[in-house]
Amino acid sequence: MNLLTFGAAAGTVGGMLYPVVRYFIPPSSGVAGGGTLAKDSLGKDVQASQFLQTHTAGDRVLVQGLKGDPTYLVVKDDGSLEKYGINSVCTHLGCVVPWNGSENKFICPCHGSQYDATGKVVRGPAPLSLALAHADVTEDDKVSLSPWTETDFRTNESPWWS
Ligand code: FES
Repeated sequence: MNLLTFGAAAGTVGGMLYPVVRYFIPPSSGVAGGGTLAKDSLGKDVQASQFLQTHTAGDRVLVQGLKGDPTYLVVKDDGSLEKYGINSVCTHLGCVVPWNGSENKFICPCHGSQYDATGKVVRGPAPLSLALAHADVTEDDKVSLSPWTETDFRTNESPWWS
């Protein structure tokens, strides 16, 4: 009987504490360092190995990234994932900028701004390059995107987006 009473009490207290403990645990889709897991068009986590099997060198592929922004993952010439992702939101007025593989550029359909293969602006009216994010493969084969706060390697300037 004592065991039964203890079990019931422990269950009640545990049930009351769970929301408090859960409050202090970050969401499962989050990644250490303020990052987030890249999601595909169906909202599923991108599996890095499968992603790289189905894309070829030079591809730039949109995923859902930091704060839900559409972000390009880049496949390097050796078939691995580039260490940065490129935010596709045009720095002029916010259109999503498509990748044009034959031109080897991102070309905005709204007012014609152009960005090179790394997202560096090469033609206005866009005033700034596309934002960057770190892209890393996690231990469980997912793709983590995290904020890029270091110098922008394309301009050697501080990142305008952070
Ligand atoms: S929104 Fe891209 S050029 Fe204007």
